[in-house]
Amino acid sequence: MKRTTSPDSHLSRRNFLKYAVMGTVVINAAMLSSFSSSWAAGSKGNNMLILYFSHSGNTRKIAEQIRERMGGDMIELKTVTPYPKDYDAVVDQAQQEQQNNARPQIATEIPNLEKYDIIFLGFPSWWGTIPMPFFTLLEKYDIGDKTLIPFCTHEGSRFGRSEQDLKRLCPRARMLEGFEVRGSRAGGAQRNVDAWLHKIGLLTE
Ligand SMILES: Cc1cc2nc3c(=O)[nH]c(=O)nc-3n(C[C@H](O)[C@H](O)[C@H](O)COP(=O)(O)O)c2cc1C
Repeated sequence: MKRTTSPDSHLSRRNFLKYAVMGTVVINAAMLSSFSSSWAAGSKGNNMLILYFSHSGNTRKIAEQIRERMGGDMIELKTVTPYPKDYDAVVDQAQQEQQNNARPQIATEIPNLEKYDIIFLGFPSWWGTIPMPFFTLLEKYDIGDKTLIPFCTHEGSRFGRSEQDLKRLCPRARMLEGFEVRGSRAGGAQRNVDAWLHKIGLLTE
């Protein structure tokens, strides 16, 4: 990101890494294994939702790889007004939305949220965190104490501040260890996705 006028809200590409370190959330391993062991058998499919946003397609590839293994429903988060395709334009718009703490209008609805126990939530890192439409979505829909599993594509900042922001938006959710990968590697990430799903106890085969 090339524009830098305020240290708080403007990130240089170099600073992505800094935020990644600052933003890392340590998951309690004991909690993880106790949550996941009960799902290991027979939880495939219909209690899972893969909810994702993708501007240029990288995050969608990971969403599809998760679906390939886990089944479940897949919903793409879309805004009423689509983001510009031009890179500089979307970078500017996303930056402004974050600075203004905006809530972009969303076109997506989640029918039957109550039927899901496990929600995979996928996003590209935008200025170190989740794109602002997720703030709109997660203020509209109460995730409650469902299990939330983030996944993220990025260009170096990994999860950045996103896990903290998700915890603030979904304070009762049980958040499991997420998956992150550089956007350019998303297409070839199936093996890493599988290893992660095994690690968190969702994939047992
Ligand atoms: C508006 C915008 C902001 C971005 N901010 C970051 C960032 O803070 N850190 C980072 O590592 N990558 C950042 N990127 C790169 C994207 O996270 C990365 O290319 C991602 O894989 C795009 O996913 P998508 O194809 O699903 O949209 C940004 C990209 C855009 C368009």
